[in-house]
Amino acid sequence: MRTVLTKDPRKAAEFIRRGETVAFPTETVYGLGANIFDEAAIRKIFEAKQRPSDNPLIAHVARVEDVSAVASEVNEAARKFIEAFFPGALTVVLRRRFEIPAIAAAGLDTIGVRMPRHPLANEFIKLCGAPVVAPSANISGRPSPTEWRAVYEDLNGRITCILQGAATEIGLESTVLDCTTDAPLVLRAGGVALEALQEIVPTTRLANIASTDEPARSPGMRHRHYAPRARIRLIENSNEITAYERAAFIGLHAPQDLKRFALHQICVSVEEYARELFRFFRACDAAQVETIYCETVSETGLGGALMERLRRAAEK
Ligand code: TXA
Ligand code: MG
Repeated sequence: MRTVLTKDPRKAAEFIRRGETVAFPTETVYGLGANIFDEAAIRKIFEAKQRPSDNPLIAHVARVEDVSAVASEVNEAARKFIEAFFPGALTVVLRRRFEIPAIAAAGLDTIGVRMPRHPLANEFIKLCGAPVVAPSANISGRPSPTEWRAVYEDLNGRITCILQGAATEIGLESTVLDCTTDAPLVLRAGGVALEALQEIVPTTRLANIASTDEPARSPGMRHRHYAPRARIRLIENSNEITAYERAAFIGLHAPQDLKRFALHQICVSVEEYARELFRFFRACDAAQVETIYCETVSETGLGGALMERLRRAAEK
């Protein structure tokens, strides 16, 4: 299969209508989409990504009204979150309609729903004529793609089309928020910060992935994620650096001897750090870097999601 590259959302949506898979940009990361009502097309997503079948997909909608096309009930808390953060980097997990194929939800009775803010994504989803299920458009376990070229690197020849947009604005995935529990539960930190959610519903809390009950709520958190081939070392202080050869550094503060690293990136803000992280991981793999030193950041705002990704990448 030759993967078609296009900047035309009409052409990309036409493939979805014909039961094919299309990668498309959102403001978080690129997704790999299929028509939510087309089981055969959804199966192609799992095959292309080599994704475990127990990991559910997010339904992407173009209008707030379309949430009820996939969710059977939208409770009070969910309504407030949707009003505050749709369109945006928030996925709300709700009870699903039984018309949604079980394969999309990996057999769960819930579905994650997101309305991207990215104008090209929005136009594309509208043209598809149905909600679009999409995981991140990478081979399972690899860093999510923040540029169309990263999608191409992982999935060329395995998917029908890539809708080409610019590099993504946030660079980390959406926050996944379970709204079916008494207190809303953050299953995955992401583009919308915990503090912002707590302003809407103060009882919102982070899931404890290490506990026995809560990991079952987000199957994806059990799988390996976001990891480059290189070993990740999280450091608070530059005196923890022990190697420069075949090593790389990313962070907010330049260590001494910065130029001795094979690759390095100093970011001016946590937002820039988040935006650049997955691209940097991929660049390190391409340069055959063996160790990537990542400076830790404070866990407020987007720092919460950034630290979660860094910790997960470091655990191998
Ligand atoms: O920003 C994003 O969320 C991107 C863009 C494309 O929207 N999508 C994305 O999808 O990152 P994916 O499949 O790579 O990650 C979704 C995460 C997985 O960890 C999955 O297990 C969890 O969300 N998830 C999806 N549906 C769920 C559900 N019904 N219940 C619990 N967790 C769910
Ligand atoms: Mg993913």
